[in-house]
Amino acid sequence: MAFNLKGRHLLSLEDFTPGEIEYLIDLSLELKKMKYAGFRPKNLEGKNIALIFEKPSTRTRCAFVTAAVDEGAHPEYLGKGDIQLGKKETVADTARVLGRMFDGIQFRGFKHETVEGLAKHAGVPVWNGLTDKFHPTQILADFLTVKEKRGYLKGIKFAYVGDGRNNMANSLMIGAAKMGMDFRIVAPDSLFPEEDLVMRANAIAEETGAKITLTAKVEEGVKDVDVIYTDVWVSMGEEDQFEERIKLLKPYQVNMDMIKMADEEVIFMHCLPAFHNKETTVGQEIYEKYGIAEMEVTDEVFESKYSVVFDEAENRMHTIKAVMVATL
Ligand code: CP
Ligand code: NVA
Repeated sequence: MAFNLKGRHLLSLEDFTPGEIEYLIDLSLELKKMKYAGFRPKNLEGKNIALIFEKPSTRTRCAFVTAAVDEGAHPEYLGKGDIQLGKKETVADTARVLGRMFDGIQFRGFKHETVEGLAKHAGVPVWNGLTDKFHPTQILADFLTVKEKRGYLKGIKFAYVGDGRNNMANSLMIGAAKMGMDFRIVAPDSLFPEEDLVMRANAIAEETGAKITLTAKVEEGVKDVDVIYTDVWVSMGEEDQFEERIKLLKPYQVNMDMIKMADEEVIFMHCLPAFHNKETTVGQEIYEKYGIAEMEVTDEVFESKYSVVFDEAENRMHTIKAVMVATL
């Protein structure tokens, strides 16, 4: 089947068919093999890419920059203090200006409406590099990693454990529904995803054969699963909520007891950055204030043979490259 994604935005995987998602994952793998073999095809020669960041980033920024340069494009980083977006200039006006100069625009920030506004007015492809609602380029890297490590996506037993209503939980649920997975959100009831999104995921699941389960019971959620995934308990912009989240999510920490409940070949995944020790300033502050040295995952699991987090991080670059090559 032929796919033509030229000119398309990537705001959420909800806008893509399972076939299109599979195509992007397969294209990522092809580009990865080519890079390993030393080929630089320069599919994006002469293109200019705007990278708007309202929030910090290691992986997403570096993935866009290295992928763009590998393919011959010029990436331009536009940080929080660099442009007037939303301050002195509307989203629509900024989009119309950038769209006259750039061939594609990445946005990472707070409101999902901002990335939607950019897409509406830019006239060039806009890619969501994380908003409060969704993080779709991360999911492509995650699914490529699952495919590489476990061999398949449809029917895979996938447990997302922790803050069940953040951008990662939302996007994984939609992506898993699209790809026909047996997907579980394992979280306290108060941190389940919004009802409307669960309904939309279930509607997709009816078409694809996916199964979506929300459970507060750890053993029920992770028993025999192929993948255990977690994310930070407190996302960017919610830093005043550490105390409450630590209380709520302590029983959902990914530790060796949880790993043992899963399939013996389970892989542990995390979008990163992760709080798995106190060797960061925030990690140290949390330790001093709340007495815990590890949050969503123990250091033992993070550093174990089950952990594929750095393969996953590398795959951000191959998948983001595929998104740009496919849509530009
Ligand atoms: N996983 C992820 O998006 O990482 P960054 O915040 O470093 O981009
Ligand atoms: N949920 C996290 C993801 C970081 C990649 C956040 O939004 O901070």
